[in-house]
Amino acid sequence: MYPIAVLASGRGSNLEALIQAQKAGELKGEIALVISDNPRARALEKAARYGIPHQVIEPAAFPDRETFDEALIACIQQHRIQLIVLAGYMRLLSPRVIRAFPRKIINIHPSLLPAFPGLNAQEQAWRYGVKYSGCTVHFVDEGMDTGPIIAQRVVPVLPGDTPADLADRILQEEHRLYPQVVRWLAEGRISLEGRKVIIKGE
Ligand code: GRF
Repeated sequence: MYPIAVLASGRGSNLEALIQAQKAGELKGEIALVISDNPRARALEKAARYGIPHQVIEPAAFPDRETFDEALIACIQQHRIQLIVLAGYMRLLSPRVIRAFPRKIINIHPSLLPAFPGLNAQEQAWRYGVKYSGCTVHFVDEGMDTGPIIAQRVVPVLPGDTPADLADRILQEEHRLYPQVVRWLAEGRISLEGRKVIIKGE
């Protein structure tokens, strides 16, 4: 048993890819919980459709950041979660939450970090004129998209691409990469030496 929580604020296509990988027996873990900070997130509908426990924990329902953080931490602890997977979670986790789950939180970002951190990474890359971009899965630390890099996938930027074309190409790779990294973690193959992530058998 390797219970996983997925935190998502929106569309939930990465959640869907993780669910499909689990159904195919490729995840080696179980998505035990989906949490959203957005009651209208399509990710919640996806969780419901597949019978996955899901919960809205939104800042507006709490008097301050501290009580919101406490609710998030308590919910994750109650479900005995081993891995927290951010999949389009549009909120920086506070240091308090990150410290509660050391090296147990991962994120996927739609650029080749450390290039183009933050919002609209695909469009940032397109505007800059890079010839290649891609996606990065990394451990979450207290910075914005700065944690140790676990894995990356590269895609070309083609002549005539719009930012949306590039975003779609990157997203397809995200859907392949994220389940693979979750599996590596579930199999206990990933360790850290300083900032360097070692993947056993890779
Ligand atoms: C993805 O592009 C991911 O890289 C970024 O947020 C987006 C989430 O998309 N962190 P979805 O909700 O998984 O479809």
